[in-house]
Amino acid sequence: MSVGLLGLGAYLPERIMTNAEWAEYVDTSDEWITSRTGIHRRRVAAADQNTADLAVAAAEQAIADSGLTVADIDEIIVATDTPEVYIPDTASFVQTRLGAREVPAYDLGGSGCAGFVLGLDIARSRALANDRRVLVIGVELLTRLMNWQDRNTCVLFGDAAGAAVVGAGPGMAEILAANAGTDGTRSDILGLEVGGTRMPFTEERARQGLHKEIVMHGREVFREAVRRMTAASMDVLEQAGVGIEDVALVVPHQANQRILDAVGDRLGVPPEKVFVNVHEYGNTGSASVPVALWEARAQGRIQPGDLVLLTAFGAGFHWAALLVRF
Ligand SMILES: CC(C)(COP(=O)(O)OP(=O)(O)OC[C@H]1O[C@@H](n2cnc3c(N)ncnc32)[C@H](O)[C@@H]1OP(=O)(O)O)[C@@H](O)C(=O)NCCC(=O)NCCS
Repeated sequence: MSVGLLGLGAYLPERIMTNAEWAEYVDTSDEWITSRTGIHRRRVAAADQNTADLAVAAAEQAIADSGLTVADIDEIIVATDTPEVYIPDTASFVQTRLGAREVPAYDLGGSGCAGFVLGLDIARSRALANDRRVLVIGVELLTRLMNWQDRNTCVLFGDAAGAAVVGAGPGMAEILAANAGTDGTRSDILGLEVGGTRMPFTEERARQGLHKEIVMHGREVFREAVRRMTAASMDVLEQAGVGIEDVALVVPHQANQRILDAVGDRLGVPPEKVFVNVHEYGNTGSASVPVALWEARAQGRIQPGDLVLLTAFGAGFHWAALLVRF
């Protein structure tokens, strides 16, 4: 039995925030942000929009794109590090807002930007084992939970949601191979320390803004990202018995133009085969791969028969890759 992506969807908030606008908040410049990251602008969710709003908008599009209705959805996975609330999970709100049946619905939280591709891998095995149609959503309101005074991190992120329905049959893109992994020894290089049992949220910590303080060792993250996304990609190619020259388009997690260039170089693919939209949306965490895949298809960058390689990394340190044939 084969399993495939049956449909895709995405939602991008209307408000566009440029690099120049960031320079009004922190000591930065368009030149610094563009040269170090490739990011020109990002989207920021409206004050009355929360995680589930973005997730539902992307999900409805993915379900419609699949030619299904919400009644056909048998399971819901929401990959997010910026949940609606901590308890219950965002998937609960999404299940009810979509009007889905009383199906299993759960979050993949804390896996950073690798969450969506990891979710596709889980959905694939759930679909295989139970003949289920699984809705996978990657959603992030990173601008809401980050420190707007920390120039090291705030300029990098944006808000967005992307979704896919995974189910039996080749669908629009058959899943040929998947890879996912974790190296917890690198948990110190990217994360949010305050808010859990180790360092509970207190008034004093909130006053210091620590609840929004993302710890990030940028250069270490850069190195690990390139290493792990490349290795995960090579693994799925090997599993499928194809070469990198057979791949029509690589759709990596959109964190930074220089990371995308380095992954392309290491894989040995020309720049035109690496899909890039980080300049438009910044790093949208677990939403980045589904939004990029959706946009690549909408722009006609993917044709029937094309092999497309998805690869992502995130806090943990986690990584995941997936090879699909459209
Ligand atoms: C964060 C990152 C862009 C920094 O780029 P870099 O080339 O490594 O930057 P450098 O270390 O050379 O420079 C850092 C300097 O720029 C400064 N800086 C940081 N952010 C800045 C900003 N927005 N504007 C201006 N200067 C800034 C720092 O304070 C530091 O100054 P110092 O040298 O005086 O201390 C880069 O390391 C990166 O992209 N890492 C991966 C991050 C990532 O992808 N995270 C998400 C993972 S999902």
